[in-house]
This record gives sequence, C-alpha cells and structure tokens, in this order.
Amino acid sequence: MPGGGNFFVTTPIYYVNDAPHLGHAYTTVACDALVRFRRLDGQKVLFTTGTDEHGQKVEKSAQAAGMAPQAFCDKVSRTFRAMNGLLGIDTHDFVRTTDERHIRCATEMWNRFSGNGHGDIYLGKYGYYDSIRDEAPYDESELVNGKAPTGADVEWVEEENYFFRLSAWQDRLLEFYDANPDFIGPAARRNEVVSFVKGGLRDLSISRTSFSWGIPVPNDAKHIMYVWIEALSVYLTGAGYPDVTSEKFHEFWPCDLHMVGKDIIRFHCVYWPAFLMAAGLPVTHRVFGHGWWTVEGQKMSKSLGNFIAPKELVDKYGLDPLRYFMLRELPFGSDGDFSHRAMVNRVNGDLANDLGNLAQRVLSMIQRYCGGTLPAAGALSAADEALLEAARGLLARLREEIAVPAYHHALDHLWAVVSDANRYVDEQAPWTLNKSDPPRRDTVLYVLAETIRHLAILIQPVMPGSAANLLDQLAIPADRRDFADLAAHLIASGTALPKPEGVFPRYLDGADQSPPPLRGRGD
Ligand code: MSP
Repeated sequence: MPGGGNFFVTTPIYYVNDAPHLGHAYTTVACDALVRFRRLDGQKVLFTTGTDEHGQKVEKSAQAAGMAPQAFCDKVSRTFRAMNGLLGIDTHDFVRTTDERHIRCATEMWNRFSGNGHGDIYLGKYGYYDSIRDEAPYDESELVNGKAPTGADVEWVEEENYFFRLSAWQDRLLEFYDANPDFIGPAARRNEVVSFVKGGLRDLSISRTSFSWGIPVPNDAKHIMYVWIEALSVYLTGAGYPDVTSEKFHEFWPCDLHMVGKDIIRFHCVYWPAFLMAAGLPVTHRVFGHGWWTVEGQKMSKSLGNFIAPKELVDKYGLDPLRYFMLRELPFGSDGDFSHRAMVNRVNGDLANDLGNLAQRVLSMIQRYCGGTLPAAGALSAADEALLEAARGLLARLREEIAVPAYHHALDHLWAVVSDANRYVDEQAPWTLNKSDPPRRDTVLYVLAETIRHLAILIQPVMPGSAANLLDQLAIPADRRDFADLAAHLIASGTALPKPEGVFPRYLDGADQSPPPLRGRGD
C-alpha cells in the first residue's frame, strides 16, 4: 500500500550459541530492505530483531565456555547487535529474551493460556527423545538410525510437563488458513503446513524441569517454559505487550510480517497462531519462509568449518554489494548457493558495468559538455518518453513485488531500466550530438539524469550508501529522496553538480581476477 499506514516486521531472534553468519545476515538484510522501502513509501514502521537466549543448548554452551549463562548471553548477544551495525540495519528495536520486558510478556501469555477457561494447559507425563542441538523433541517414529532426522544425537527423557492442547486447534487452524490465504508465503510452504495440520496435531509439551535456564512457569517455579513457547512471544514483547492499551500495541499489533527461514515455518505457522488465538489475540498477517544458503555448494556447518562471517564479506566486497548480492542472486523463497565467483560476477557485471558505468558516463558527460550544470530538456522524442515512462513505472511494479516480498523481481525491474538507459545512451550518442546538435544533447542528458534519479531513489532500500552517493552526485537534496519525491520534484535543470566519481568499483583480486579461496575449509 503506497503512502501512510503502519507496518510491523520482525526477524526471528537468533540463538546465542552461534556467532552471526551469512544465514542470519540474510534474514536481517531482507527485513531491513523492506523496512527502508516502507519508510521511503511513507509508512510508519516498527522493526524488531534480537536474540533467543534461553534453553538447554545455551546453558550447555555457557558451561562449555566456563561462563554463567547470563554473562555468556550478554557477550554473544553483543555480536548480533554488532552485526546490525555492520550491515547498516535501519532503526530497530533489539529484543532479548532475558530482557525484563520479555519475561513479563511471556509470563502474561502463559497466564492467558491457563486462564482462558478452555483447559488449553494441563499437566501430564512426557517421554521423548531430546535433541539438545535442535532444541526439539522427537518421538520414536521420527528417528533415523537412532538419531534425529537432522542427524543430531538424541537421548530419552521422561518428565512431568505442562502441555498445550494443540490437538484441539486443528480445525480452527485449518479455518484460519482458509480465511487467510496470504498467511503463509511462498505458496509451496503453505501447502506443506496445511497438509501437516490436516495430518492431525498432537499436544505440545511446553515446560521443562530437567534444567533451569529459562523463564519460570507462573505459580510452579520448578518448571521453566519450553524455549519456543516463550521465544515466539518475543514478537509481542516488541509491540509493547502486555501493555495492550499502549499506543504502540494499538498501532502495530497484529504484526504484518514475520520473516523466517524455511526451517522454522512450522513453529510460526502452526504453533504461533494457535498460541495467539488461545490468548485471545489477533494473529499476524503473514509469515514468509525464505530459502537457505549453501556455500560453494556445501551446507554451512561446524564440522566443515565453512560458516561465513558477514564481516568477512563486507570487508572483501563492501556492504552494499553484499546486500545487493543476497537479494538479487536467489529467488526469494528458494535455496541457493553463495560462491565468490557469483559474487564477483554481480559486483563487476550488474554494479560496475551496468549501473555504475551508466551513472559514470552520464555524469562525466554533463561535467564535460555542460560545465557540470544540469542541462534543460527541449521537446521530447518518442525514445525520451519511452525511457522516462519506464523509469516512472518502476515504483508501482516495485510495490507489487515488495508486497510478496520478491526482491529478485524488484531488482530485475530496476535493472531492466538500467539496460534500457544504457541502450539509450548508445543509440542517442550524446558525444556525437555534442558537436552536431547541442540542444538535443542537453535533452538526452537531462532524460538520463532524471532516469538515474529514479533508479537511485528506488535502490535506496537495498543499497542505501551507494544510492546516497549517487543522489549526492545528482545534487538531490537530502529531504527530496522519498518515493513521493519521484513524481513531485523532477530533477532541476541549472543545478551545479559536483565532480563525478565512480560509485561501484570493479572487484580486482590478483592478476587473473579469479575469486579468492574460502577460508577454513582445510585448504
Ligand atoms: N531462535 C530460533 C528462532 C526463534 S524466532 C521466535 C532460531 N534461531 S537461529 O539462529 O537458528 O536461526 C535464525 C534464522 O537464521 C532462521 O530464520 C534460519 O532460517 C536462518 N538461517 C540459519 N542458517 C541459514 C542459512 N544457511 N541460510 C539462510 N538462512 C539461514 O531458529
């Protein structure tokens, strides 16, 4: 929806037993691009991210590090905060599950379940194969050669737990999916979820007594809450819950979008809506499950030692090229591979050769032929109109793609106009017009500058720094860079432009320019 309105988007909260890697950076940057798009489009946005700090896995990692759990969480949580700084993440709220506000929120949610009069919570005996690594219980039929389906080790645990009566929610969930066809994206994930729920739901064990690093169950402190049940309610914490009378809650709940990886779709699309309905709260509008990255064809894993730290990529290629690569290379929603070769191709092809070269040659010609002053346009030819039309049509198309969100399509549309503009430069040949027809040369350069202004304003969500640099070079005032300014303020003839400089350098690494080897894979 263009202009106005509120929008609330969340990343999952990241476990503190791992250091930030490419996968985390991906979810966060995808949300950030969306947030920036919505803000530039005039919406008021709430954006939350944070860290998931309770549970046995974290308790064990803290022990292994010789630290108290809270001190351990403080330390690792800081690395995720630092990742946001590194990735240029726009204004957001960073919520930790050890925050007092979250403990209040999770406790209130629990009280809502147990006090809702439907018997949604009961005490029962629970025997299960526990995988600490997956932070998930399995039953016998799910095991493969004595291990979890993910390959993780399991051990048999039996304890008295509180249960959530999920079995009673099957029909209501199916009705909910029917009534809200856009709740789950992409469509394939929706089908998976619906058939899982149709297969029947078992009650969910939602407390633990075998360890203590967690939020105590109200009125029964020998139990702590199962980590997922409290982790999901972090989204409510971000909206100010349990203060339901606050302006923030009123403005932003229900949440518009939970962006998650495909691995945690079930938690967000089955358990979470059931929890919300049980608590009498409106359900989030949409959950989108994006795909997973492999690295040079292999799964990222501790044993292969091929986790890529976002910092390594930012240092090597620059922040904006990395953000661009992540959102352009994979169809959003599908899996794909990160390789240095693919990254270098994007940097040198799409950025340096296509967009960078377009801007550089147009700005240099304005500098050389027009004394650095933006020329005025005369009568427009059909070719001029066609290029401007293509640039002006972008916003509407991008809005449609971003609603999905399909970043790769949005970027395809933008780059189609980059290609149109490059073709137009070649066809119009302003270097020839410079001698033969200076007024026509001015028109062509004006049309190009106006097209580049559109492109630069519209790439801000994905490459904020480079876009700002381009807009500075076009002398567009800082307060004229919103989407509303696209149509409201055409680029102004007569403006003096600064001396142009390249925005997207080529990536050069050694004489043969072959991509560098990956670190940490035994080479
Ligand atoms: N703590 C839970 C989420 C709780 S939300 C209430 C969790 N944390 S996680 O740190 O393991 O994963 C967080 C996100 O990173 C997930 O969305 C996951 O899909 C994403 N990724 C982890 N590895 C990934 C790739 N290799 N590729 C893309 N994203 C991946 O799950």
